[in-house]
Amino acid sequence: MTELSGRHIHNIVRRALNRVDDRLVDHGERVAYLVMHMLLEEGSCDARTIRNVSFVALLHDIGAYKTEEIDNMLRFEIEQSWNHSIYGYLFLKYLSPFRSYAPVVLFHHTPYVELEAMNVPLKELAECVSLADRVDVFMEQGAGEHVLEVMEAYRGTKFSPKWLDLLKQAEQKKGILEKLSGSLFMDKVYEAQEKVPLSKEEIDVFLKMIIFAIDFRSRYTVIHTITTTSISRQLAVLFGFDEEKTDKVRQGALLHDLGKIGIPVEILEFPGKLSPQAMKIMRTHVDITEEIMGGEIEEEITRIALRHHEKLDGSGYPRGLRDEDMTMGEKIVAIADIVSALTGERSYKVAFDKKKTVRILREMKEENLLCPYCVEMMISHFDEIMRQVGKTGNHILNIYNIMQLEYEELARQYAYKGRDTNET
Ligand SMILES: [Fe+2]
Ligand SMILES: [Fe+2]
Ligand SMILES: [Fe+2]
Repeated sequence: MTELSGRHIHNIVRRALNRVDDRLVDHGERVAYLVMHMLLEEGSCDARTIRNVSFVALLHDIGAYKTEEIDNMLRFEIEQSWNHSIYGYLFLKYLSPFRSYAPVVLFHHTPYVELEAMNVPLKELAECVSLADRVDVFMEQGAGEHVLEVMEAYRGTKFSPKWLDLLKQAEQKKGILEKLSGSLFMDKVYEAQEKVPLSKEEIDVFLKMIIFAIDFRSRYTVIHTITTTSISRQLAVLFGFDEEKTDKVRQGALLHDLGKIGIPVEILEFPGKLSPQAMKIMRTHVDITEEIMGGEIEEEITRIALRHHEKLDGSGYPRGLRDEDMTMGEKIVAIADIVSALTGERSYKVAFDKKKTVRILREMKEENLLCPYCVEMMISHFDEIMRQVGKTGNHILNIYNIMQLEYEELARQYAYKGRDTNET
């Protein structure tokens, strides 16, 4: 896993978000490119900062996936843009490896004069992203080489003179705007993302961030994923797996339902039994996971993630594998997935208690669907495993609650105020 580079992560993020809506990822990449060139001209940032900022710029509109402000984002006039800035800020702050950069996202649509009068961290960087953002939107609307003249008209009001000068400088030296319409402009960004290797911990937080992005579709799915991961890790430890092997099981579990980011929310949260047709769509989440991973994640982890719906008797999907084809790690995640589904609340069912869950697991064992050793290990340690699941789950729910409260608070502070001034 450690060989995953920033570029790999970038591509995984790209493919995952494209499954939600493909209009914003390209915009994010072009903004990352412009921001990076301005920072290089400025010359005060080290390679790690430039790498991190390239990700922040890529993700600057991530809140729009949640707030349905995508159309607004891609227009030039954007008065009603606070909601996605606030959600994006909270996403960065609580669910990403870029907590400290969150204010950049919060203020990426705030005019330069207003921002200058505020006492907020990283406002220069927010001004940089703000300029890059509008340059790209305006270019996309056909401004061509006139884009800099248009930006010039807002010098010192909407846009920062400093970044405007650096943008022009980069344009004069390297012709960055022309390259933007070509296909190779991202090479420079990839280079910056690969220059400073990601640590194991950083990769882990990145993967978790991608999993949290499923929240744009369904919060149940995020909680289910976290629960499955906790159960899988605990079972691996109980079976005596060493640290490295346990970690692979944990990461495979973390990624196991990633493809649900591409399943319509009406199906993910359908309040009842799915029709055969809807079920067919639901089952494609395994293929979507495979597509998003794009062969960039270690084989063993990939297999664990992709085999959680296989059954010992060959009746599972997508491959109909049998007992002898599957490793213990794969079987562990398969049972953890089921326990999480049974013990969790869903749009179509209440949470099952221990008695009912144990009965169903035993039945599945008798029917040769689940690994008997995993079932017995799960049942004999049921209480301690579920206690830990409860702790992890509460932690996530707490984060979501804090995000909700903070969202309302920030919306009161900025969004509603903005609306008032627009109306008067
Ligand atoms: Fe935006
Ligand atoms: Fe944007
Ligand atoms: Fe699944």
